[in-house]
Amino acid sequence: MDKFLIRGGRNLRGKIEISGAKNSALPCLAATLLTPETVTLHNVPYVKDLITQRRLLEDLGATVLTPELRTHKVSAANVEVFEAPYELVKTMRASVLALGPLLARFGQAKVSLPGGCAIGTRPIDLHLKAFEQLGANVSLESGDVVARAPKGRLIGAEINFEKVSVTGTENVMMAAVLAKGKTTIHSAAREPEIEDLAELLNKMGGRIKGAGEETIEIEGVENLGGAEHTIIPDRIETGTFIVAAAITYGELEIKNCHPEHLKAVIEKLRETGVEIDELNQSTLFVKCSTKGLEAKDVTTEPHPKFPTDMQAQYMALMTQAEGSSSISETIFENRFMHASELMRMGANIHISGNTATVRGKTKLLGAPIQASDLRASASLVLAALAAEGETVVNRVYHIDRGYETIVKKLRNIGADIDRITDNIALSAE
Ligand code: EPZ
Repeated sequence: MDKFLIRGGRNLRGKIEISGAKNSALPCLAATLLTPETVTLHNVPYVKDLITQRRLLEDLGATVLTPELRTHKVSAANVEVFEAPYELVKTMRASVLALGPLLARFGQAKVSLPGGCAIGTRPIDLHLKAFEQLGANVSLESGDVVARAPKGRLIGAEINFEKVSVTGTENVMMAAVLAKGKTTIHSAAREPEIEDLAELLNKMGGRIKGAGEETIEIEGVENLGGAEHTIIPDRIETGTFIVAAAITYGELEIKNCHPEHLKAVIEKLRETGVEIDELNQSTLFVKCSTKGLEAKDVTTEPHPKFPTDMQAQYMALMTQAEGSSSISETIFENRFMHASELMRMGANIHISGNTATVRGKTKLLGAPIQASDLRASASLVLAALAAEGETVVNRVYHIDRGYETIVKKLRNIGADIDRITDNIALSAE
């Protein structure tokens, strides 16, 4: 298993380019199953989860060409398999995003029920309940979700999500876009990735209104055609690099980003004393004020509030802020695994239920630590960059799932980081 060797204490300086959003590219790739015509996606990030999603499409019978590393030309004209097997789903729960499109276009789908993951049980009950409301018969057969549209085509319905669910909203959008009649989704997720998916579906001929708001209206159509679409920048990668500049008292110009998509993150980080200037609509200039950072509380909530995917990175930063900060995680039940590893480096963190109290500023010392999930790994890399001495971050395959060529990007802005690999490096870095 690969690991990172990081020697901390260097100020990161320079320019960084943000990659396409993993959590938009995943549903957009799934959406290509909705038409036999070619769909071309640009700015697809070169990360492990998208390599897995591409494999899933090919296992179903689709053809995926990559004329350039980050351009995927997909043709699902010859899809004959409607099953996503456990071996694949267990490595990436976002494979459940195949359910909606397969059900919508072929009237049938069989996808292994994704297990939980490090951050929580991650059920998909709300997805399945919505599919039933759209007229599907859904059953569980030895660990697989088996869904069928009895009349071959789903029927539009009023869907009320009891909880805001990002992939739940995406799955229902993709199921409803070909359904007979109108579907209204209430309590829809409002993430920018939902808007990006709706934009792609409408380019394909879909009739979706209200994406990004709490209520989304979808007029079902008979079929969808090909389209070309560029994936939005990754707002979580952007937030991660803002923290990287702040925690190392560096200065970064962050290009190809979309500040509008992470307003709550920018606002909170400015409150702590991070200087963030929007040079234009796609460029941020970040540096940490000479006065240092001030501890500020935060609670994670669905978009447009502070995202759970930035909680771990924020916790690393708060170890370097003066004072006590309370970090409450309201989305997932077990998303503090990074805390114990940060404490191994000298952080002062106390956890009670879904709230972590961080007392800073504490000196961080390099140590061997272990990543547990994608954003926890990012948090540990950030802490290692700020720590004195050498840190070995183990199990970095987690970070490879969602951060494109992270070693190369960090090296280019002055980090002292090496990937120690037992086998051929995953990506050109
Ligand atoms: C998406 O996961 C993201 N993944 C996650 O990013 C992100 O953390 C999460 O949304 C929240 O923003 C992708 O988009 C691929 P949810 P998702 O359904 O859709 C509960 C990363 O780091 N729930 O919005 O799986 C659920 O347990 C990943 O990139 C149900 O109870 O999250 C959670 O407590 C990690 N039943 C809450 O709702 C359901 O049927 C929100 O989950 C569905 C969800």
